[in-house]
Amino acid sequence: MTDRRPTLYLSRLLPEPVMVIVRERFRLVQEPLDILPAPSALREGLCQADAAIVTLGDCIDAETIHAATRLKILANYAVGYNNIDLASARQRGLIVTNTPDVLTDATADLTWALLLATARRVVEGDSLVRSGRWTGWSPTQLLGAEVSGKTLGIIGMGRIGQAVAQRAVGFRMPVRYHSRQPIAPSSLPCEWEYRSLQELLSEADIVTIHVPLTPATHHLIGTRELAWMRPTAFLINTARGPIIDEGALVDALKTGVIAGAGLDVYEQEPAIHSALAQLKQTVLLPHLGSATLHARTQMGLVCVDNIQAVLGGRPAPNKIP
Ligand code: DGY
Repeated sequence: MTDRRPTLYLSRLLPEPVMVIVRERFRLVQEPLDILPAPSALREGLCQADAAIVTLGDCIDAETIHAATRLKILANYAVGYNNIDLASARQRGLIVTNTPDVLTDATADLTWALLLATARRVVEGDSLVRSGRWTGWSPTQLLGAEVSGKTLGIIGMGRIGQAVAQRAVGFRMPVRYHSRQPIAPSSLPCEWEYRSLQELLSEADIVTIHVPLTPATHHLIGTRELAWMRPTAFLINTARGPIIDEGALVDALKTGVIAGAGLDVYEQEPAIHSALAQLKQTVLLPHLGSATLHARTQMGLVCVDNIQAVLGGRPAPNKIP
């Protein structure tokens, strides 16, 4: 019997509950692996498929988009889509979708984990206990910064920025935010106050970044912006690495311009600036923002829904305009 299922290219192995559905509903052009495909393998896979699920490490450039003539939909397994040349996709009529909403809570939770770990020196404490060098409680050991009651500065007040702000209530933290436009106070659930970027950076004790990576946000935080921050302040980034100039951040940390940084994302992932790992005042995670089984499963299901809509002649629920 002929297999009438549409062909799907999957650039990476996804969590098992998603794989079960994917294998049932599509014919895979090749068996996905748990590693990033080489650019040639990526292009070859995309050229053979009706639809594709790709991840944030897959660089989908103009050449690939124009070569993949059979492809109708590119479902990006992420909310951010800076890995895709959107202008070329639009020009070629290729639908691109993302996975908003389903990873908001996971990413906001991870932001708080990183924030608390950085301010309270959680990783240094863990290393001390594991090393066997811990000699017992001490009044002066690993003193960190108080978080409760401090001012939280949020750059980017979209879904994730707002979810991070909502979690600040329990910590009694006044929230200041910066975004392209101030949000009408009537549409905000709490009293979150708008600030210019400079005001926010000068006022906040902890600054956390939640803007997408675009040409306008590339190196949004560099030497000048870091100098606006307080020497006691912490910088947290769970958005995209290139929003921060990593070299400038290293200099700022080394010279005490700011107190510490918690990073989940890097300019050249998976490579990191060599000095970052030498600094005690950093906590470094391997891009774990959406890494819960629930969120990563939902992200896969959102991709599948979008693909089925497009291949079935319906509008994609999460089409990137
Ligand atoms: C996203 O969706 O953009 C996240 O970074 C994936 O973990």
